[in-house]
Amino acid sequence: MFDSVAPRYDFMNALLSMHQDVHWRRATTEALNPSQGERVLDLAAGTGTSSWPLIEAGADVWSLDRSPGMVTVGQQRQPDLVFAVGDGHALPFIDEAFDAVTISFGLRNMPHPVAVLRELHRVTTKGGRLVVCEFSTPVRLWLKALYAIWLRIVVPIASNFSHNPDSYLYLAQSILDWPNQKTVNAWLREAGWHHVAHRNLTGGIVALHRGTR
Ligand SMILES: C[S@@+](CC[C@H](N)C(=O)[O-])C[C@H]1O[C@@H](n2cnc3c(N)ncnc32)[C@H](O)[C@@H]1O
Repeated sequence: MFDSVAPRYDFMNALLSMHQDVHWRRATTEALNPSQGERVLDLAAGTGTSSWPLIEAGADVWSLDRSPGMVTVGQQRQPDLVFAVGDGHALPFIDEAFDAVTISFGLRNMPHPVAVLRELHRVTTKGGRLVVCEFSTPVRLWLKALYAIWLRIVVPIASNFSHNPDSYLYLAQSILDWPNQKTVNAWLREAGWHHVAHRNLTGGIVALHRGTR
């Protein structure tokens, strides 16, 4: 599915998030807090938009994604990034290869999220960090209601401007189906991560989940 939306993915992302994505990416980089030269894996990196702020922070970033289409568009737009095609359920890296690992708006698309969190744990060095940035459950009831309208009405209308409206309907539904902050934190613990906590962004529309290996 991501192969077909790849050329317009970043444009639609910015549009549908009303440019909040810039703020969410900055917060993700701050939470991961990479030092100069640290090895960082950005899983489900898509076209590399989530990787770029980590590069700017001085990290050595590997951008991995399962969709060849997303990776091809990423390589054209950002030739300085190191891209690879691979599956989050079976990462093509040795144990403890990275100082920090992150995944933005990708865990929701994986059939077995706990297995992916375990794979991320395997490839992270002891004491290394994980940050998951993902859509979540708004805390306030009025925002939750407004957000449901956005996903059920506005996104379907906006998807008509895409070449592949079904993809955006799927994305909206996957957000509605995704569990709340507490459940995702429990998954991190189940996968072996310690010091698990989360921070809500934009009232909980997005959550940053953190863990330490
Ligand atoms: C919504 S995009 C997020 C891209 C990027 N991280 C961002 O923040 O813009 C989700 C990405 O997850 C990738 N993906 C889905 N399942 C995957 C898997 N099993 N392994 C690796 N990547 C996967 C898709 O190809 C897609 O590029």
